[in-house]
Amino acid sequence: MERGIWQRVAVKEGDITLLQVDAIVNAANSSLLGGGGVDGAIHRTAGPELLAECRSLGGCPTGEARITKAYRLPSRYVIHTVGPVYSGKPEDEALLSSCYRSSLLLALDYQVRQIAFPSISCGVYGYPIEEASRVAVHTCTKFLKENQSIDQILFVVFSLAHGDVYRRVLKEAMSRDGVL
Ligand code: AR6
Repeated sequence: MERGIWQRVAVKEGDITLLQVDAIVNAANSSLLGGGGVDGAIHRTAGPELLAECRSLGGCPTGEARITKAYRLPSRYVIHTVGPVYSGKPEDEALLSSCYRSSLLLALDYQVRQIAFPSISCGVYGYPIEEASRVAVHTCTKFLKENQSIDQILFVVFSLAHGDVYRRVLKEAMSRDGVL
């Protein structure tokens, strides 16, 4: 059972907008009306219908998540979550963890089995990748332990260096869990 959890997480380098999975997660801002980074790429590829649906949602507080259709993207859904702007205070971690957990709870509601996360808050919002990847791995693997219906969580990174950080953090967590 424990091994199963580690087989259900993977790190992938590349552009999240190309992935044909049930849901991709967007690192949005609280307006949900688009922006730069991964948010810009998602809206560009999805097309204007995504913005129209986002407008109807009335925003999203930091740490929460909302779901929309994916329009011209190859995935079925986009889950929009709003990460914290990094401040170095303890609440950053709780808010970032809440982004992952809220997104996964929505995934359960919509029968999403494969979900791809970008490194939420690690671009414009300034969260250090090392710290953020620990929060991501811890929150997601804890969720997988409690919920069998998610088959795969992908951590999608834009750079090889970020991929290396995630793989190391995953290995450390696996060895703590007695798997390695
Ligand atoms: N695929 C995968 N990862 C990507 C992609 C992509 N296509 N594009 C960027 N990344 P950011 P944040 C990585 O800045 O820090 C927006 O303007 C990127 O290298 O997109 O949560 C929103 O509207 C970085 O590691 O999101 C908000 O205002 C990670 O995705 C604000 O930025 C997240 O970087 C949110 O900032």
